[in-house]
Amino acid sequence: MTKQEKMEAIQQLKKEKKALILAHNYQVPDVQDVADFIGSSLGLARRAERTDAEIIVFCGVHFMAESASIISRDKKVLIPDLEAGCSLAETITAEQLRDWKAKHPGAVVVSYVNTSAEVKAESDYCCTSSNAVQVVESIPEDREILFLPDKFLGTYIEMQTGRDLNIWDGVCHVHEKIGELNLAEVQEEHPDAEVLIHPECGCSTSCMMRSSMYFDCSDAHIHSTGGMIEHAKESEADEFVVATETGILYRLGKENPDKKFYAANEDSVCEFMKMITLDKVYEALKYEQFEVRVPDQLAEQARKPIERMLQIS
Ligand code: 13P
Ligand code: SF4
Repeated sequence: MTKQEKMEAIQQLKKEKKALILAHNYQVPDVQDVADFIGSSLGLARRAERTDAEIIVFCGVHFMAESASIISRDKKVLIPDLEAGCSLAETITAEQLRDWKAKHPGAVVVSYVNTSAEVKAESDYCCTSSNAVQVVESIPEDREILFLPDKFLGTYIEMQTGRDLNIWDGVCHVHEKIGELNLAEVQEEHPDAEVLIHPECGCSTSCMMRSSMYFDCSDAHIHSTGGMIEHAKESEADEFVVATETGILYRLGKENPDKKFYAANEDSVCEFMKMITLDKVYEALKYEQFEVRVPDQLAEQARKPIERMLQIS
């Protein structure tokens, strides 16, 4: 089958099976092109919550498909490759979280959605990079908070809210490497560009402090992937340096053909996101593989923090 034939076959199967294809902003162009909806972690969770499709093909990583299974219990959730994991979600297990909670009795646990269902089940609130500040601000100021697993996002929240958080020492292997030197180099080539930074990046803290020795932070903006899409659309700037996984550049370019986007670091590629290909999406739909089904009891426990998050933002 040619690529065009495969894309048509996917559209046909989607209709026959009443399926919805959701794709994260980091997915490869071909997958974004066959998706019904492309979005951030929060956008995708919301779309999964309100669909009347019978099957959701989740083109993203495993924790995202798990979240869809937790909130859409009557749907069959498929992920085209079960190996599509997340290095950040791997940095904490439910057992490690239970130990941490035991050392901080009474603390409120706020977990980034990049966590397993088991970790969510041990948490009070979930958050994404779009709503983390709002979620923390909704918690009474006198409560101790355990924030996990991303330390850069945790520091960003601390600086935005002025709250003191206990932060887990986790990082995403892709974002931690996007540093100030990358930004300085690309900024030198494109001095008029605005800078968009994902809060998981190593350089987000210096950007918040507006105190980098290496790059000019005056026109830098910290956003989730969804926030970057919105910002690029609304900004009057013509050029942007983008500090996150490079998959987002395709959507940014497609939706803003008159603007230019440059990766802060061309090597910022999440190999897990890239495991999802057009061929695997086709096979997922054809053979209804691979189902991600969180067991009932676990789903019930993990749903509470996700629902609290969805109510707040
Ligand atoms: P967003 O929530 O901003 O879409 O990011 C998800 C993610 O995995 C970042 O690496
Ligand atoms: Fe996880 Fe990082 Fe990949 Fe996002 S980019 S899915 S945080 S490994």
